[in-house]
Amino acid sequence: MSHGVPEVLDLVEVPIPVPAADQVVVRVKAAGVNPIDWKLYSGSFHAIDDKYRDEAGVGADALPRIGLECAGVVTAVGEERGEVSIGDEVIVYPVTGAYADYVVANPGSLISKPKLVDWPAAGALMLTGTTAAHTLHAAGVRPADRVLIHGGSGGVGLMAVQLAADLGATVIATASEANHELLRGLGARPVTYGPGLIDRVRAAAPEGIDAALDLIGTDEALDTSLELVGNPDRVASIAGGPRRAEQGLKVIGNQPGADLGTEIRAAARPQLVEKLVQGRLRVVIAGTYPLEKAAEAHRAGIVGHAPGKLVLLP
Ligand SMILES: NC(=O)c1ccc[n+]([C@@H]2O[C@H](COP(=O)([O-])OP(=O)(O)OC[C@H]3O[C@@H](n4cnc5c(N)ncnc54)[C@H](OP(=O)(O)O)[C@@H]3O)[C@@H](O)[C@H]2O)c1
Repeated sequence: MSHGVPEVLDLVEVPIPVPAADQVVVRVKAAGVNPIDWKLYSGSFHAIDDKYRDEAGVGADALPRIGLECAGVVTAVGEERGEVSIGDEVIVYPVTGAYADYVVANPGSLISKPKLVDWPAAGALMLTGTTAAHTLHAAGVRPADRVLIHGGSGGVGLMAVQLAADLGATVIATASEANHELLRGLGARPVTYGPGLIDRVRAAAPEGIDAALDLIGTDEALDTSLELVGNPDRVASIAGGPRRAEQGLKVIGNQPGADLGTEIRAAARPQLVEKLVQGRLRVVIAGTYPLEKAAEAHRAGIVGHAPGKLVLLP
């Protein structure tokens, strides 16, 4: 594989992995697709920040196995596998190389998959779910807050909208017109992004905005959030350039100088599963693809605008 467009993705045959003492092997049933998957090989990190690539363990020439989350069935275990047994149905996150028939994982990254949760939802829940939980935490969103969510129809956005609404917050979410009905169904007041956004948000939330989540990284999202919230401490961002840190926003995730939120994200994992089982959260699936169609899934993701998650079914 080389850097470039989705066509550079290669499907290669390798032996089924054997776990080391502190590892398990999982037969992957579903793997979630995320923008970071194509950013890692598109070369876009060079444009954003070489340091980001270094911190992500992706040197200029080191090309990664793709896929950071999945769900599947445990097929082999090392001696120090803890409570994990062969045959367990599990959600695996974080992990690397999830676009595969089999993946090697650390037992600490496994969480039991309830029977009620289907494979695509299980495989696509965690990266966006934990990011959304972390972002809401970073912006200090509380019940009765009015929160503006930029990119509410995206993978992270749909999780953030549902978690905020479940908390009791009033949610104003930006999205393309075609995704407004979906957002309304999840309890949000939808607003179209683009010129005039600030007036449309004011009209949708005349009582004002207490906190904002920038899940898209545009100047429009940044400027609108700062203007409406008035306090950068209550604005959290997961994307975009250095202006965010300069303006004092809560910058989170795996970016230089950002808060990784490791403990908050770990604590969110069982809560997300519980909410899914209780019907208080759902994973909106934009499309499923066989493993060999990963490039097609990436093309769909890059074009965007279909709400929710793309999922590979090996
Ligand atoms: N820092 C972290 O920890 C972390 C974690 C996960 C993701 N991320 C990053 O966060 C970003 C979002 O991830 P995702 O998985 O939610 O992506 P996604 O599923 O592709 O969602 C993209 C969202 O952006 C909206 N959008 C598209 N063009 C826009 C524009 N010009 N102005 C405003 N909104 C626009 C889309 O709305 P419509 O489809 O309705 O047009 C959609 O809601 C990506 O850059 C990703 O790499 C960071």
